[in-house]
Amino acid sequence: MCGIYGHIKKSSKTNSLNACIDGLKKLEYRGYDSAGVAGIHDGKIVCCKTVGKVVVLERAVKAIKLELSVAIAHTRWATHGKITETNAHPHFDESRSIALVHNGIIENYQKLKTELEENGIEFLSETDTEVISQLISFHYENDISKAIQKTLPLLEGSFAIAFIHKDHPDKIIASSRGCPLAIGICHESHDIFLSSDSNAFTSSKLDVFYLHDDEYAIISHELIEVYNLAGIKLVKQIETLNLENISISKEGFDHFLLKEIHDQPLSISKAIENRLDYANATANFSELTLSDEELQKTNRILILACGSSYHAGCIAKQIFEAYAKIPTEVEIASEFRYKDPIILKNTLILAISQSGETADTLAAVKESKRSNCPVIALCNVKRSSLSRLASSTLWLNAGPEISVCSTKAFTSQLTLLMLLALKIARLKTLSHKEGKKFLFEIERLPAQIADILSKSSEIEKIAKKYAGHKDFFFIGRNYMYPTSLEAALKLKEITYLNATGYPAGEMKHGPIALISKKLVTIALCGNKHTFEKLLSNLMEIKSRGGPIVAFAPKNSSEILSLTNDVIFLSDSISDTFAPITYSICCQLLAYYIAKFLGKDIDQPRNLAKSVTVE
Ligand code: G6P
Repeated sequence: MCGIYGHIKKSSKTNSLNACIDGLKKLEYRGYDSAGVAGIHDGKIVCCKTVGKVVVLERAVKAIKLELSVAIAHTRWATHGKITETNAHPHFDESRSIALVHNGIIENYQKLKTELEENGIEFLSETDTEVISQLISFHYENDISKAIQKTLPLLEGSFAIAFIHKDHPDKIIASSRGCPLAIGICHESHDIFLSSDSNAFTSSKLDVFYLHDDEYAIISHELIEVYNLAGIKLVKQIETLNLENISISKEGFDHFLLKEIHDQPLSISKAIENRLDYANATANFSELTLSDEELQKTNRILILACGSSYHAGCIAKQIFEAYAKIPTEVEIASEFRYKDPIILKNTLILAISQSGETADTLAAVKESKRSNCPVIALCNVKRSSLSRLASSTLWLNAGPEISVCSTKAFTSQLTLLMLLALKIARLKTLSHKEGKKFLFEIERLPAQIADILSKSSEIEKIAKKYAGHKDFFFIGRNYMYPTSLEAALKLKEITYLNATGYPAGEMKHGPIALISKKLVTIALCGNKHTFEKLLSNLMEIKSRGGPIVAFAPKNSSEILSLTNDVIFLSDSISDTFAPITYSICCQLLAYYIAKFLGKDIDQPRNLAKSVTVE
């Protein structure tokens, strides 16, 4: 998986190598294990690859001092083969006539590799990608179109590829199947850009089109031709993009993660802006194309998502069931896609994805669409693949989330899901009075979050005290149980410590065996409905000598005798909205522990912000 980028100069003064580096920086959310760039100079392929982030490549490229007017580039999240310079993209054919970058996975690469090896072809890398460059070269007889027409049908799996060939030094050839690939022509300079994500284009106004499955484009600064596998020339639908020039800055914070945690009073305000309808005690979404009648018919909800978005779905399940009284299922997208799913009539499908590019979520949605039930996507990134698949997209409006670990997008997802639950509940049985109460509560969230953020230094002290521990349990009941899953994920992602989220009442059925002085339990006590029950569960842990830290409502002093440390939060936070405020406490806790441990907080090892392979 990964991000691919390309640039062909027409009239600008831009060095294509620099254009590619700038593009790669915007694609780093797709992986940052290694990066590389290639072009053709004096009839030969020139290439620079480095292990690590794009800044390392940038330094290496500067040192080469080369001017190119055509280049392709790549930032890698390793799938096949270790994180080495050899396995970094671009990859070549044996004669080094081709350099190729790839996003996706070629599932039958081993078979293809063996066949090529039997034909005497030697491979340099351990990647699946190299079979593509070798195959194109194997089929190349002075006709690039024919070579690609022979190669693509042999590939099983998903790909977006771009390659250059030394016989065609002014061209980039690109193709895709199941992975996004956008081609943009800058209005001003007529330079041509190619990217896994149109938001990564470094020009502000462009004509853009996307390659669909098994189409390929032959691109030069004079001509862009797109064909299907039969070699028939296609006319593509072009849209004009006006990309906002959003400046990305840490705004004085040490990390993007901390900045994004502190963005939350604003991002939640943006999530509710123009959506609260007090007159009708409901929520409105201008982007929603489904009518009230269609929503009213809903008698089941199916939520598809991965990672933190999945956890937002787990919390939403309880809210949909409690308020709209609709049975709701939440499915991990990577599991759902290979099931034989039963989707009954009048099911509303919700696909949650910050990026809108997560491969498993996209595949699950494609599978679910066979049911003809409406799909509402919740996305943050505009023009994402998911928004192109869904019947309607509700936008989080959280602003760019740069840190790999999701914080503000997660709480905006929750806010939107709560509003959607309110809307459907009002179409069903929820009273006007209850609807209004819900709106008042949701409107108080930004202020409540600001209050949580004012407790940062208290949370930092707790983080310092417990940063030396290796194992953590996050426990809670009711809404606090799925909240604990997300809290544990946050800690795992950025500290690399072992953390598990668990329903507090279930601890006695096994996990309590792990309790010892070394294992820290973080108790999320934000659920008043089950508070007393949770206290009994904490007592069971205390009796076995396990240290306990609690986040709890202010008036719950009985918690003091049970715990080693408590952070008291406002007791006016109701059970329904507590997942947002308590999650933010856990985001801060994870952040400060990671900071004490000196971890790479914004780009943790082995992770990517958007996982574009299955
Ligand atoms: C990756 C990220 C997670 C994210 C998940 C789903 O694993 O590291 O932070 O929650 O993908 O991403 P999505 O963009 O679909 O919400």
